[in-house]
Amino acid sequence: MKIKLFSILSISLFGQLSAQFDKFYATTDAKNAIELKSKMPNEVEIIGSNDKESVVFLSPKAAEFLHHNVITHGPGYIYKSSEQEALLAISKSKKSNKVLAFTIDQDATVNSAIGKVNADNIKSHIQVLEAYGTRRHNTNQALTSVQDLKAKWEGLIAATGRTDLSVRIVNHVGTPMPSLIFTINGNSAPNEYIIVGGHMDSISSSAAAPGADDDASGIATVTEMIRVLLNINYKPSKTVEFMAYAAEEIGLVGSSEIAEDYAANGKNVISYVQFDMTNYKGSNRDVYISTDAYNSNNLNLFLIELMEHYNKTGSHVFTYGNTICNYGCSDHFSWAQNGYDAAFPFEASFSQSNPYIHSANDTLSRSNNSATHAAKFAKLGLEFIIETAKGSVLATSEMSNQSVEIYVKNKSLNYKLGKESIETLTIIDTSGRQLVESKDLLSIGKIDLNKINTGLYLAVFKTKSGKVITKKFILD
Ligand code: BES
Ligand code: ZN
Repeated sequence: MKIKLFSILSISLFGQLSAQFDKFYATTDAKNAIELKSKMPNEVEIIGSNDKESVVFLSPKAAEFLHHNVITHGPGYIYKSSEQEALLAISKSKKSNKVLAFTIDQDATVNSAIGKVNADNIKSHIQVLEAYGTRRHNTNQALTSVQDLKAKWEGLIAATGRTDLSVRIVNHVGTPMPSLIFTINGNSAPNEYIIVGGHMDSISSSAAAPGADDDASGIATVTEMIRVLLNINYKPSKTVEFMAYAAEEIGLVGSSEIAEDYAANGKNVISYVQFDMTNYKGSNRDVYISTDAYNSNNLNLFLIELMEHYNKTGSHVFTYGNTICNYGCSDHFSWAQNGYDAAFPFEASFSQSNPYIHSANDTLSRSNNSATHAAKFAKLGLEFIIETAKGSVLATSEMSNQSVEIYVKNKSLNYKLGKESIETLTIIDTSGRQLVESKDLLSIGKIDLNKINTGLYLAVFKTKSGKVITKKFILD
């Protein structure tokens, strides 16, 4: 209906002129841009694209269409003040080729760490944050909450007596609220960074902004990860940082200043994972991997691989799915914009996520009054940190996993697996979708990949004795 009405308007000269006058620059997902251009050819120009994003010059009508029809929530595009700004934004989001570089071989450390995650700790951190009443970026409560978190994180350090741990405040230009960063210095590759974060501020349509899920849950999840790592006297090769950002809710202000600063200083951030809303179980599955184009497929596949390896069987089982927020919906976007690999594992599918956020009702009581859901994210975060912050260079290939050998030739996956026979072999794509499942295979053989597109995949071998072995491969 809207489309029809508009095309009538746009053929009149007046309509065209006034639309032209109001047009503005923005970046949006490349797929959205193409869809929009086909639906409203006079309302939008595609100025330029990379493989993921486009710069568009669009009318308010087209923007509204994008907002209501292409995406599920949020504006659906990111406003840019000029063509140059917009082109610069998409030129920055270059993707890395660090494909296949991550490995899984820290079973003992990871299992000891995830066994120590305590949901009650996460719950009490959420209660403390909720009790400020608001953490809106320009309030005193927000400032106090950051100072108190600093004291809490410093308290964790004091108990260890270690000198390779530190906490620092980061002040910002765009908000009076500071961000907070906890650092574990890498002991052999300190210039390579593994970073996780969430946002400390909240927002609401009324004065009360408890922000228990958005995003006290993420800060509480990260705080529990820090406690566990210090408890096991964890000493990474790479530098590991935990960030609590200011002013996410008014436009990713804290994280964009920090990520821009890291990029300007040439800091080598290997991977970034965001925890924003971890404690409301709105969907059947547990962890939803965001597959927005600006996220890293490689990192997403690695998170999937970690969950296949550590959380498929045993005492820390949870499930995963995938979802999409369709725009730069949280701080991971700031890192992606600066050329870093970023991921955003989320509490539910976006459409079933916590409906109480940004209101006085975003309380722990609306998230089951417990933090059992968030605890799964703390485990995933620990798995991610321990497996990625090991080693001195990222470029180590998948040498550690010798129990299975694979190669791809003539669109077949060839495999050889010790002496054990295979109960199931599953091929999973970067959004966690299972494309192939074969049962009861011998320990050596091949499976046909002719029906599968080129790309990056995970092969999951489950042996008759219940072992799970994962291997990444590229089909080209
Ligand atoms: N936690 C939300 C993002 C979110 C909400 C993701 C619901 C998925 C489902 C975040 O704090 C937020 O509100 N972000 C803003 C965007 C930002 C650029 C101001 C939003 O989504 O409107
Ligand atoms: Zn949030």
